[in-house]
Amino acid sequence: MIHFQKKTQQFDLISENSQLSLGVLPSGHLATYYYGEKVGTVDLSYVVKEIKRASYMADTDCIKDFKLEQIPLAYPAYGNPDMRTPAVQLILADGTRITNLRYLDHRISEKQLIPGLPSCQHETAEMLTIRLVDQENKLRVSLLISVFPQHDVFTQNIQIENLGSTPITIDRCMSGSLDFLSDKYDLLTLGGAWGREAHQNRRRLVQGFQGVDSKRGASGHGQNPFIALLDQEVDENHGTIYSMNLVYSGNFLALADVDMHQNTRLQIGINPFEFSWKLDAKEIFHTPEVVMVEAQQGLNQLSARYHKFYTECLIPKNFAKKTRPILMNNWEATYFDFDKETILALAAEGKKLGMELFVLDDGWFGQRNDDTSSLGDWQPNVEKLGGTLEQLIATINQIGMAFGLWIKPEMVSPNSRLYQKHPDWIIRVTNQEPQQVRHQYVLDLSRKEVQDYLIATLTNLLTENNISYIKWDMNRNITDSGSSSLEREQQKELAHRYILGLYRVLDEITKRFPDVLLESCAGGGGRFDPGMLAYSPQIWTSDDTDAIERLEIQKGAALIYPQASMSCHVSAVPNHQVGRITTLKTRGMVAQQGNFGYEFNLLELSEKEKADIQQQITEYKTIRETMQFGEFRQLQVYDNRNEYAWLQQKNDQVIVSHVFVQAHGNTVPKRLKLSGVQPDRYYLSADDGKMISGRELMNIGLSLPVPTHDYFATRWCFTQVSDR
Ligand code: DGJ
Repeated sequence: MIHFQKKTQQFDLISENSQLSLGVLPSGHLATYYYGEKVGTVDLSYVVKEIKRASYMADTDCIKDFKLEQIPLAYPAYGNPDMRTPAVQLILADGTRITNLRYLDHRISEKQLIPGLPSCQHETAEMLTIRLVDQENKLRVSLLISVFPQHDVFTQNIQIENLGSTPITIDRCMSGSLDFLSDKYDLLTLGGAWGREAHQNRRRLVQGFQGVDSKRGASGHGQNPFIALLDQEVDENHGTIYSMNLVYSGNFLALADVDMHQNTRLQIGINPFEFSWKLDAKEIFHTPEVVMVEAQQGLNQLSARYHKFYTECLIPKNFAKKTRPILMNNWEATYFDFDKETILALAAEGKKLGMELFVLDDGWFGQRNDDTSSLGDWQPNVEKLGGTLEQLIATINQIGMAFGLWIKPEMVSPNSRLYQKHPDWIIRVTNQEPQQVRHQYVLDLSRKEVQDYLIATLTNLLTENNISYIKWDMNRNITDSGSSSLEREQQKELAHRYILGLYRVLDEITKRFPDVLLESCAGGGGRFDPGMLAYSPQIWTSDDTDAIERLEIQKGAALIYPQASMSCHVSAVPNHQVGRITTLKTRGMVAQQGNFGYEFNLLELSEKEKADIQQQITEYKTIRETMQFGEFRQLQVYDNRNEYAWLQQKNDQVIVSHVFVQAHGNTVPKRLKLSGVQPDRYYLSADDGKMISGRELMNIGLSLPVPTHDYFATRWCFTQVSDR
């Protein structure tokens, strides 16, 4: 619900449990009165009025003690007279940069789409548009804030409109900016590198500027476009959290800035580094959307809100709640070294063991037998495939498997026919040799002709072949940031224009082929963000397939992204990335935390190993719905450096998984207490047929076995019943 109190000029956006309240000050400035647990439509203007005044700050509008720098502002500009980090900064027609934005009017409507950018949608969402205007500078800035009542989520995007007749330049335009009147928080972000993405990084806030960003042209392996403030006591089940996640796949900045009086400003948006945007007369610029989620009951409540929200309001409807197939990918099985016989034998073996979708990875096109060639030449290599792609797919379909194909549309190899024909289509600066990463250049997706070429190529491929799944890879970052198609003063628009181009291609392809399941990938989790989720229901979580490495990666990703969106495979041992040997049981249990599949050479397995896999798949099929779409919780463990535990539950099924990383001598494991089950219900254990109450499971917990080796995994399956 959106409520406007006319007398006090206060806006209340209220969902079932959360609230965001803003107010127009007598000066016309827009303040954030409150964000957090629902408190109702009470007059909250006292929050601002009662702030005690500090010294050495400018008065606003020459009114004594009206110090804008101390007020929690909804969309702050710099230097008039707030001196904190601004949300917006522009170069105006006369070259000056000081704006004077005051309330103009507001409107309540249905939630609107954002032109050119993905956004969250739901039929129950309502949107409040507040327009701020700078009369002298002929500028309008609108905040489009939406409430999703059943999801306890608010979203915001910004429109900047040049009402004048001369171009202006946008240097900074964050999507979200929230001021908190305290600094007693921890900062939580998700960071890492290629092969170890999404690790949770938690540290105390300190005075000054702190945060994370990406300058890589993609949201990146290094940081996720997510930031949260946590009460210092927050754990899985307790404490207050405020968070922001950006629906964007390019360069971003997420920051917390603690001022001189222990107030915290939290912001997220397009990274102002290497960004500017020329806004011509009468033009409008749209920022990406920020998703804001708060929680009062710790990390699990935060995750539950994000998971439900992304499943119901962002991920393509056709797949959001659709059972995902168990796939077999040939990458770690064969790499580039395959032929028709191997592919068909792998598919046949996969089918025998219970797999449902065969994915042909890199190496099926052009002359690509290693990573030095052919990207851009998306014609099947008929010699290597022993016939046309159509024929290969038909045989795989006859075997009883659906067919999926890998492609890396944004990249081009220097020795491809495409590059020979269009050397000007790549991102580069003139007069400098462009850098290569893995022998590839990046196509300049800011150019319409490149976008059109990609749309046509993908359309042909998907029209001519019975492809039910695409793995869309993109595995290099953007160096040499320059485009021959952009004017001198627009070069800093390239990174954002690239993402707009990418979204146009994805939008067109997913609209033309809504039944093709898209899995995005950027060398693993290098672009695992809500922007990509809007088109691809699942994302390859990491190129590191080791079960133990995956524990931390998946724990981080699952903090905000639904488990059905995280692709996770069982691979060979010794693991190809870290050389570790783990049991099939451990690998299976960890991979089943997300979208389950296999990625190793089934043709090299013993009969016993095959039988074990067959059994693993048969068992998985009985719990698949719960694992993919059930409510997900991380469980508290005794030693969180050595143990991981999680629970999924749906309808009456509860699945609990626990992994010890190392086995230690003469230790007695502590009990594993569950959370999220019904205290007054009973749970029937599939292992020993015993009945136990939810209250016991939560307060006394399960008895953990003593690990007899490293990487020791245990699973419990329960059925909920109402009576003993
Ligand atoms: C990077 C991906 O993350 C891998 O899974 C695989 O598809 C390779 N690219 C293929 O080159």
